[in-house]
Amino acid sequence: MPPAKITKYICSECGHITTTKTGKCPACNSWGTFEEFVEETKPKSARSAPRVRVISSLDVKPPARLTTGINELDRVLGGGLVPGGVVLLGGQPGIGKSTLLLQAAGSIARNYDARVLYISGEESDAQVALRASRLHIASEKLCLYAGSDLEDALRNLDEEEYAFFVLDSVQAMSAENASGWPGTITQVRAVAQRVIDCARAKNIPAVLIGHITKDGKIAGPMMLEHMVDTVLDFSGEGYSAYRMLRAVKNRYGNTDELGVFEMKEDGLVPVEDKSGLYWNRDDSAVAGVAMTIALEGNTPLAAEIQTLAVRTTFPYPRRTSRGIEINRFQLLTAVIDRRCRIATNNHDLYINVAGGLSLQDPSADLGACAAIASALKNIPLKSGTCWLGEVGLAGEVRPVTRIELRLREAARLGFHCAVVSSREQVKFEGLKLTRVSHIDEALAGLLVS
Ligand code: TYD
Ligand code: MG
Repeated sequence: MPPAKITKYICSECGHITTTKTGKCPACNSWGTFEEFVEETKPKSARSAPRVRVISSLDVKPPARLTTGINELDRVLGGGLVPGGVVLLGGQPGIGKSTLLLQAAGSIARNYDARVLYISGEESDAQVALRASRLHIASEKLCLYAGSDLEDALRNLDEEEYAFFVLDSVQAMSAENASGWPGTITQVRAVAQRVIDCARAKNIPAVLIGHITKDGKIAGPMMLEHMVDTVLDFSGEGYSAYRMLRAVKNRYGNTDELGVFEMKEDGLVPVEDKSGLYWNRDDSAVAGVAMTIALEGNTPLAAEIQTLAVRTTFPYPRRTSRGIEINRFQLLTAVIDRRCRIATNNHDLYINVAGGLSLQDPSADLGACAAIASALKNIPLKSGTCWLGEVGLAGEVRPVTRIELRLREAARLGFHCAVVSSREQVKFEGLKLTRVSHIDEALAGLLVS
């Protein structure tokens, strides 16, 4: 019996599938996002009994990983690429996805002395070759396929043995078993599925590059993220040469690692000392500046909180904040006013976290309070001190998560004192701990007069 063909509709936002076309997607409420596609259903063969296995009897050997040799990338992947596993690397155009993967491909080809295939649907032979020469990754084993025909590209993997392949990008390739232009939802889905099947069948790792839309989603359905094993997000601020790599999903590792690169003349260079990103290590004592150690996943980062207090000319003083949520800033200002008896209503207050870092976790509260109080009194805080605590409405100082990790980073960076909550259980030799239970107590002895 020939396969039956059924016309269905798929939402380009969330991947919801229906048999009738509607204006609004019932799953994600987007309008006008349905695209038509034809699904072939194969006749069911006689079914055998479902096969189940006792989990404890299964082989639990960790997979032998293929390391890219780029430490920051390997760490975010959870130790390297897994054979048969497919990674989706998402990021805005121009962020450096092609650069990162070409460097990784070159490094694998060289380190393993094995063939690696780079499939480029976006750039010509000459463009990729020029980039490769800029990156100094010439290798006999690094092969390029430039074109948008997916089947043609993957045929190379049948003819020769390859250790790894990259598809740049999932939106630029066209699969033969799907209709529509490259980049449409049906094409993206078919391309991804074909690559996943191919990687599994050959038991080699693969990376799919995907562009993301302005609102930060990978163009194409969320479904693409469900299909692959690992999703990496490559991002960076427009003005900065630094690029952040994070795992959004990882079937083979955790998602807490942060990888940092700097885009230079000859490609992406890993940044090992991440605390230097947001802190200029200036020891001069300035009123309104406090240091804290924030956590980005598992990575501790030194953060400099700066506050400026200016006598106000407005009936309602201004509160301006960057890097700390404005409501949190107002709350902490109110706590200082009431619990430390430092008048705040006759000053405009500005708070900023240096380097464009955004502090979300409440462990920065104590640092922010210290900076605000120091600015209002126009007295600098003691240098070499970092502040780690959450501040409650009663002015109490509460413990923070992963204190030891933060203290180790503070000691490594040369801080000699940390102000922490008196309820913190940690014992740490690397620097002096000043334990406080109330914000008043925290500020009392630490302002240099
Ligand atoms: P690219 O990898 O093409 O970005 P994507 O694939 O994410 O679209 O990188 C784009 C930018 O990186 C480009 O504007 C130039 C810059 N770049 C460097 O600064 N140095 C380099 O060595 C390379 C290869 C690119
Ligand atoms: Mg590119």
